[in-house]
Amino acid sequence: MTDNIFNQRVDYTKNDYLDENKLPSDPFELFRGWYEFALKNVEKDPNAMILSTVNNNQPRARVVLLKKLDERGFTYFTNYNSSKSQETNKNENASITFYWRDLERQIRIEGKVEKISDQESDEYFMSRPVGSRIGAWASPQSKEIKSRKEIEQAVEQIKKKFQNKEVTRPKNWGGLRLVPKYFEFWQGASSRLHDRIIFELIEEEWIKKRLAP
Ligand SMILES: Cc1cc2nc3c(=O)[nH]c(=O)nc-3n(C[C@H](O)[C@H](O)[C@H](O)COP(=O)(O)O)c2cc1C
Repeated sequence: MTDNIFNQRVDYTKNDYLDENKLPSDPFELFRGWYEFALKNVEKDPNAMILSTVNNNQPRARVVLLKKLDERGFTYFTNYNSSKSQETNKNENASITFYWRDLERQIRIEGKVEKISDQESDEYFMSRPVGSRIGAWASPQSKEIKSRKEIEQAVEQIKKKFQNKEVTRPKNWGGLRLVPKYFEFWQGASSRLHDRIIFELIEEEWIKKRLAP
């Protein structure tokens, strides 16, 4: 079985080499450039990112969707009682990783997670289809449930509760923003000599460096 895995090998040849001197000095600007390109060229979920948190000393990772990007950071939406949210409540250090396979690019971002305002969460919540809004009420995310039926019944109850009423945001659901202090832009290159350009926030200034692949 492992034969097939260890012979699995591709060379990365899509991109021109990265020249750190030609890249923007602001990593948000570089991120936006790469993200715009991903939006046009990645078929599904270009906004999917792996969110890694720490539970005591145990790293935990899962996919969430990037839903907002501004000069403050990267916002995703979730249940505030979920495991990931409890983890960042206790330890705000987290990282997100984008991997765009077809572009041969990866971006790693590290920083601290903070809650966004209720107003911002309301705004996003109300933009969601009503089925997803009901789901947010019905699902005690990360808690054990006995069966699929249990959640289906919860959905029916929530539908009744909101009959002829607008489905507004439950207080335990909303946005969290990762505020970055470190970025790494990785781009595949031939013979494993990939490009890695990092940006570190040092005394409020982004310092750019190249790392060995
Ligand atoms: C493509 C994809 C997108 C997802 N987007 C989200 C999301 O935006 N928010 C979220 O809470 N969970 C999202 N999930 C589910 C999470 O990966 C995870 O199962 C869930 O949030 C519970 O994680 P936790 O128990 O560690 O808190 C997504 C999963 C996938 C595969």
